[in-house]
Amino acid sequence: MQSSQNGERELFKSRAGFILAAVGSAVGLGNMWRFPYVAAEGGGAAFVFLYILLTLSIGIPLMLSEFSVGRGSRLSPIGALRKLGGPWWSILGYMYVITGFIILAYYSVIAGWVVRYAIDGILVGFPVDPGEQFGIVTTGMSPIWYHLGIMATTILIVSLGVQKGIERAALVLMPVLFGILIFLAIWAFTLDGAMEGYVEYLRPSLGELLNPKILSQAAGQAFYSLSLGMGCMLTFSSYLSDKTDMGRESVTIAASDFGVAFIAGLVVFPVIYALGIQGDVSESTVGALFIALPGAFVEMGAVGRVVGILFFIALIVGAVTSAVSLLEVVVASVIDEFKFPRRAASIAGGVLIAIMGLIPASSLDLLGLVDKLAEAMLALGAFFMAIFVGWVAVGAADEMKKGAGERSKRMVPLVMTAVRFVLPPMILFATVYAFIAVVVEYRSAFGG
Ligand code: PHE
Repeated sequence: MQSSQNGERELFKSRAGFILAAVGSAVGLGNMWRFPYVAAEGGGAAFVFLYILLTLSIGIPLMLSEFSVGRGSRLSPIGALRKLGGPWWSILGYMYVITGFIILAYYSVIAGWVVRYAIDGILVGFPVDPGEQFGIVTTGMSPIWYHLGIMATTILIVSLGVQKGIERAALVLMPVLFGILIFLAIWAFTLDGAMEGYVEYLRPSLGELLNPKILSQAAGQAFYSLSLGMGCMLTFSSYLSDKTDMGRESVTIAASDFGVAFIAGLVVFPVIYALGIQGDVSESTVGALFIALPGAFVEMGAVGRVVGILFFIALIVGAVTSAVSLLEVVVASVIDEFKFPRRAASIAGGVLIAIMGLIPASSLDLLGLVDKLAEAMLALGAFFMAIFVGWVAVGAADEMKKGAGERSKRMVPLVMTAVRFVLPPMILFATVYAFIAVVVEYRSAFGG
């Protein structure tokens, strides 16, 4: 990716390469670690229903908005917003880069725990006392080493560039993830007690549907899961050819992301209910998956061990491809703004984030707090993106039509109307709620 040196921006080689890279960004810990427990908290089926609704009504228009800014400018967020909106808008670009820093710093820590669970699973099996094991995995030097390992891998992939690094990694890794997850869902179906899990997961409790807190949580989860609100999809689309039908791609990406989250729920819930460990899960949010599932795997003996290892491998794959996309936002910005060569930008950005990550790596309370903060920053970033594309940037609609098929073209006016009138108030509402949640989390964790 000697883009800035010779003026030729490196592009994705294939349609599948772009889609899998974007899906790789979207699919990650957000789907498999966050979605199932947020869904359970939010009233099961009611949450799932709201989530689908918000993915369609807010997620897809917002993704298309980011695509139009990225491909329209062929720049990373800071330069893109400056080019299409003037110097003040570059501030939003800087905010995106900072959000990328913050998310990757703790995301990589959680990904590190996952690696440790996978390796332990292979070498010694899953823990008999999962609560205690979670404590061991998340304290002392262990989380730090694994976090550094994840960061090193991420830096390596990003430094190889779009085609050789990001696209190739996604083409190999994403099918692996899909395969493992589908296998796991079929296996979970065969468990005694699976039915109870499905019921809990999907039973509608319609009272929750109108609860504003649930609504804003579903919106926040949608941004998080679709990698929206921090210029990630914007950056990827800056490597996209003009022939791409961005409307169609955004639907494909959103549908795949939802599919993976939904299937993850079909794995997690039966396992939890088959073993009657629902109590453990609602205790700790960040720890739920890590305490509940290994406990389940250990009770299921040798089969459980194999299945558990596969589950954690799928989780690593998802987490690494998402981490790559987070670092790419930072790196692309450093390349475009400061004309760094790609490798230097990857190392500089990555090392800085790795150092920042030492903080959440050493405190679970802080990590939980940063997770809430990330959600709020994404919502805020999404709000300004909607304002930008709806009211500031000229030519967004034309960019959306470029390369689009008839069906996508016909949707553009509807999308633009949504971006102008529906998204800003709804996202603002979600943003306010998300920042309130940060304060609540802070108080409960630090008693301030
Ligand atoms: N979408 C990723 C996930 O679900 C997380 C992420 C958020 C990645 C924002 C990039 C940007 O795990």
